[in-house]
Amino acid sequence: MSPEPLQTLYWEDDSLFLLDQRLLPGEIRYLQCRTVADVVTAIKEMVVRGAPAIGISAAFGVVLAAKEAGAAGGGLSGLQEAITALRSARPTAVNLDWALRRMERRLEHAAGGTCEEVVDALAEEAQAILDEDILTNRKIGAHGAALIPDGASILTHCNAGALATAGYGTALGVIRAAVAQGKHLHIYVDETRPLLQGARLTALELLREEIPATLVTDSCAGYLISAGKVSLVIVGADRIAANGDTANKIGTYTLAVLAQRHEIPFYIAAPCSTIDLSLEDGRGIVIEERDPAEVTMFNGQKIAPAGIDALNPAFDVTPAELISAIITERGLLQRPDRAGLKNLLTKGER
Ligand code: MRU
Repeated sequence: MSPEPLQTLYWEDDSLFLLDQRLLPGEIRYLQCRTVADVVTAIKEMVVRGAPAIGISAAFGVVLAAKEAGAAGGGLSGLQEAITALRSARPTAVNLDWALRRMERRLEHAAGGTCEEVVDALAEEAQAILDEDILTNRKIGAHGAALIPDGASILTHCNAGALATAGYGTALGVIRAAVAQGKHLHIYVDETRPLLQGARLTALELLREEIPATLVTDSCAGYLISAGKVSLVIVGADRIAANGDTANKIGTYTLAVLAQRHEIPFYIAAPCSTIDLSLEDGRGIVIEERDPAEVTMFNGQKIAPAGIDALNPAFDVTPAELISAIITERGLLQRPDRAGLKNLLTKGER
């Protein structure tokens, strides 16, 4: 029997426990965050990563900030500063802002209560965000599985699995749901340079559940797709603009172009909390630039000559016209566009 999926994060003993994803696949170790500063650092340093998982972590960060403020005896005055620090920990995934807004709304409602009451209300809200995320991913899986033919071979990039969420995953959730329906799939996993989320995390998730998978270098995608070895591409998302342009891990755009060139579907699987109607199109999405040392170093070893310039954007934007469908908890949006996305967000469950 395959083991339970790894638990990305949980709340216990007034602390947030994060599976330290920097150590995977070699070691399973949880980092205990006792303060909001611990959570900000964990998000920045990618102890926890993946759009939904960083949103949930930030929500618990607000709980810790409220506890600290209460313990310091100064009321909740310092809380906004902590929320700002959480909000700016990573810039691209809108789920961070979405979760913090939700916490701010709860804070507003709870204001007037004692510090203890406010902390309890915030802890309840953060836990609700976590619990809902798993249900959301199961719905994404159920909707998306309808798009996956039996016998498909699927290319995925980065990690949009249980490890990027509270559990089950978005793109990997669709794969899990299709496998649960008895479909036979083969997954090609892009290693995802420079931080290797595909090789370290997606490969681990698939292996633990015995879903047939093959690890490939990122530069292998064109070869595989042109050789007819890939039936479809499915990935997650960090922010979807109002017109459907989608930011995801660097290298995603390349896959979408390849998919169009070779006439195979390119799917995005993401919760509605990843949709940002405040941005007209993908040009407004801030792309995180990470330390160039992630490119020039590997495992603490220099892999490039000292003095070479290196660029390390963590995400890119795929134009909506290259996306065959966006799979959300509310249903599928084929050929996403402005009207379709607006409709999806304003309508109830489909
Ligand atoms: O830099 P990361 O590892 O946080 O990037 C993660 C991704 O790009 C994921 O594909 C995205 O967040 C969706 S996770 C369900």
